[in-house]
Amino acid sequence: MAAMTINSVNFGAAKAVKFEYVGLKPLKVHQNITSVRPHSVKFAPRVLTVNAAEAQGDGQVKKMGKSDEECEAAVVAGIVPEAPPVPPKPASPVGTPLAASLPLSRRPRRNRRSPVLRAAFQETTISPANLVYPVFIHEGEEDTPIGAMPGCYRLGWRHGLVEEVAKARDVGVNSIVLFPKVPDALKTSTGDEAYNDNGLVPRTIRLLKDKYPDLVIYTDVALDPYSSDGHDGIVREDGVILNDETVYHLCKQAVSQARAGADVVSPSDMMDGRVGAIRAALDAEGFQHVSIMSYTAKYASSFYGPFREALDSNPRFGDKKTYQMNPANYREALIETREDESEGADILLVKPGLPYLDIIRLLRDNSSLPIAAYQVSGEYSMIKAGGVLKMIDEERVMMESLMCLRRAGADIILTYFAVQAARCMCGEKR
Ligand code: PBG
Repeated sequence: MAAMTINSVNFGAAKAVKFEYVGLKPLKVHQNITSVRPHSVKFAPRVLTVNAAEAQGDGQVKKMGKSDEECEAAVVAGIVPEAPPVPPKPASPVGTPLAASLPLSRRPRRNRRSPVLRAAFQETTISPANLVYPVFIHEGEEDTPIGAMPGCYRLGWRHGLVEEVAKARDVGVNSIVLFPKVPDALKTSTGDEAYNDNGLVPRTIRLLKDKYPDLVIYTDVALDPYSSDGHDGIVREDGVILNDETVYHLCKQAVSQARAGADVVSPSDMMDGRVGAIRAALDAEGFQHVSIMSYTAKYASSFYGPFREALDSNPRFGDKKTYQMNPANYREALIETREDESEGADILLVKPGLPYLDIIRLLRDNSSLPIAAYQVSGEYSMIKAGGVLKMIDEERVMMESLMCLRRAGADIILTYFAVQAARCMCGEKR
């Protein structure tokens, strides 16, 4: 079957990576147990698929040589099997010291000694339902590969994107976030294309919603793809990024996206007060049902490099340090959390992901809201590069990194690996 809790990112021991989660598709593995409800004719027989533990020789029960029929006959005759003989102790390598047993009352390895026990005590799981797939779109017809992000493309909004979304849905990823590459000719210093109702993003949302009404579409709310300065806000002549004036435009952008059918608008700009202002703007236009995922703790990170190449959105001057957070700061994430909560955010996001696990945990422990983690472009590219160079096992590192983001407290993960990882969870190899 598909779907499994990532059963174990089995560090070291097991040969095959066993990502098992229960859900999605019919399994193709191991055994099927069909159970029919005894007194019900109303329900179709339900197929319950069980993923048998793989015999790895570590403490598995072995058959004692009798056939099933002989065992059955013995039981019927009232003959209870003897306890199995104590097996001879397997040999240790020559040179193993003869050491007395340590007097330990607790040996944590007991709970790790077989695949069944390990699966039973696994604390964290991951499924395709936890993944959000960020996709790059452009006006063109072709899908253009992104050099710094192997496996990612700027997708033609009309064809390539629709096909990619179908692939994602096939493996249970039904949430995407759209990032547009806007032609230079449409960029201005005030980023007005951001709220053009016929712009690339609103048009794409309409197309996708027409084809896949149940697809959950997240949008990015920020001016950088539309700004001739490459900043997330409007830049004054002295280089200052204007806050309240930018928020005014972000509200128009969010409303335009909601009007097109966006489910979740996601301000990634880090201006102060934008969540409350966007909430009020959405409500005033009748979009009470549209959610806000706030980039609550977004750091001024060098891990965004490949993304900026993908969208050609590098700031024309300076950096983003007057609005994005200092990577050295921890407590400050709590200030942002309190603001976003009180302004009405529905989901709080931490970005980047893996280098900021402590921040994910901080938000998890200090808010009851769902937490999102963004495994950003640089994180993706590093794992891809390590895999291509055969320095790491790409697939296992990918799955481990996603599991760790979940363990730290993320409910959902935005990741360019979404489709590859979901395929892995469904037991499909690429
Ligand atoms: C900009 C935005 C950025 C990312 C998402 N939205 C880049 C930036 O802040 O410069 C980065 C995502 C990634 O690196 O994968 N609003």
